[in-house]
Amino acid sequence: MSIPKTQKAILQPDVMSTEVTMITDPVPAANPSSNEHLIRVHTTAITNGELLWSRYFPLPKGEEPEKFLVPCNDVAGTVITAPEDSPFKPGTEVYARSNYNRTGCAREYTILLTEEMSKRPQNLSWAESAVVPMSAETAWQALFEHVGWEAKAGEGARGKRIFITAASGGVGVWMVQLAKWAGAHVTATCGTSNVDWVKSLGADEVLDYTKTDIKQWSNGKDKKVDVAVDCIGQKSLEDAWWTIKGGGTLISIYQPPEQKKPAGVEDDIRNFFFIMKSVGEQLRMITDLIEAGIGKPALDSVFPVDQFQDAFKRVESGKTRGKVVLEFV
Ligand SMILES: NC(=O)c1ccc[n+]([C@@H]2O[C@H](COP(=O)([O-])OP(=O)(O)OC[C@H]3O[C@@H](n4cnc5c(N)ncnc54)[C@H](OP(=O)(O)O)[C@@H]3O)[C@@H](O)[C@H]2O)c1
Repeated sequence: MSIPKTQKAILQPDVMSTEVTMITDPVPAANPSSNEHLIRVHTTAITNGELLWSRYFPLPKGEEPEKFLVPCNDVAGTVITAPEDSPFKPGTEVYARSNYNRTGCAREYTILLTEEMSKRPQNLSWAESAVVPMSAETAWQALFEHVGWEAKAGEGARGKRIFITAASGGVGVWMVQLAKWAGAHVTATCGTSNVDWVKSLGADEVLDYTKTDIKQWSNGKDKKVDVAVDCIGQKSLEDAWWTIKGGGTLISIYQPPEQKKPAGVEDDIRNFFFIMKSVGEQLRMITDLIEAGIGKPALDSVFPVDQFQDAFKRVESGKTRGKVVLEFV
């Protein structure tokens, strides 16, 4: 396959603004003596809030010049060039969440590293593949690294109760499915129109956050949980504090939980915020689950790349059911 010299790419020209534009950019070259692969991008997924990350989570001094502000770290594509010893030979269909400290993947060709990638699930479309990596890896790390449950079907979280907010969002759907797979009892929150859908993902109890007083709910008999995971922050995070038993754990992927701690909650709750890492080996285990029919991706919508402005607006609405994808022809 001949590789063109230039390509379409989406660029965020200014970290202080969430405006994005389309440019013509040189196709990157993979360094053959490193673990870099050149990838033909088929689809890439947008993450809610990502255009604010460079402002709020700046890279350490010295790393910034390496990064060109192309958004979207979630990608599915075909390997074009690979290091000689790579397990991902040219022609392999892969997917990944690329590392945040490198240029993103909203471009026709991108670079992926061996340790970020997995073969993509054979039972998913290109669009469905792109919505998986960041969301599923974040949920995997929350449950099986930070909470410390064993990643084992029916066993890892047997007898444990978990409360998950924004369960209809990109990350929330994976929190529900992986916690259920590990054997936990799952209570999840979402808006009215998504209640039946979140139940269909396996949640034991689904609360409509527009109609339920979470503090009151958590005072019911046997409602308190061992672990709460907040995926959306603010009021949801504040509510999540009330649901946890003394000695339990609260994780937010949105903000440090102490910022939203209400007076009067149990005082021995372990709580923290974390930022996910790209781990290809975890993505490989997630691929196996998807191919076994255990985890389903949540694809909200697909936009041709030329309609990127509409796609970013849809994500900013905060009302997507799963993730929004840009498709390259
Ligand atoms: N720390 C990390 O490593 C990490 C990793 C990935 C993502 N994130 C961040 O985590 C956040 C979530 O990401 P995402 O991709 O899951 O977002 P998303 O898909 O855009 O989440 C949207 C969902 O949030 C739900 N929602 C909105 N307000 C809610 C409320 N008050 N209570 C419960 N649900 C509510 C909506 O549900 P309804 O439509 O049903 O109302 C919608 O389904 C983003 O800010 C993202 O930047 C962090």
